[in-house]
Amino acid sequence: MKEVLLAYASMSGNTEAIADVIEEVLIEKKLAVHRLEVFDLTPEDIRNFDHIILGSYTWGDGELPDEFLDFYDEMDDIDFSQKKVAVFGSGDMSYDIFCGAVDLLEEKVQSQGGSLMTAGLKVELAPYGEDVEKCKAYACSIVKEIKKK
Ligand SMILES: Cc1cc2nc3c(=O)[nH]c(=O)nc-3n(C[C@H](O)[C@H](O)[C@H](O)COP(=O)(O)O)c2cc1C
Repeated sequence: MKEVLLAYASMSGNTEAIADVIEEVLIEKKLAVHRLEVFDLTPEDIRNFDHIILGSYTWGDGELPDEFLDFYDEMDDIDFSQKKVAVFGSGDMSYDIFCGAVDLLEEKVQSQGGSLMTAGLKVELAPYGEDVEKCKAYACSIVKEIKKK
């Protein structure tokens, strides 16, 4: 089984609910998922996986939440050149910068040499209805990329 790292930050559960949908699809497609919260994520974890999915809600004014900041800084010293990454997050459209954390993480990954497996997934609050289908389609496009090799 191919392994995927799935790490995320979620304060009130919305981003976690997206992670649940993604994980379900990956497992259904026979991929082994190593799932953890960003608090527990280390640079070593990144080195151990070729395929990485990062999730975060957005805080402040289109920013990353506090619990992501240490790791975001650590990313400056990680070589992502062999890494294929996908980013997702939950936000709220009533804010000026919807899901800005997704853009920040994508930019950081790319600036560290990583490539993106698929376009970032931005979900309004908790996924339900059509958004669940969007999450599943996002997960399927990741599976396709992983199985390409
Ligand atoms: C103080 C505060 C600031 C926020 N700033 C933004 C923002 O700039 N952009 C955005 O899209 N959402 C923003 N949000 C909304 C959260 O990202 C949204 O509620 C999200 O679903 C929370 O995800 P979680 O349940 O995984 O913690 C903000 C929420 C709070 C409470």
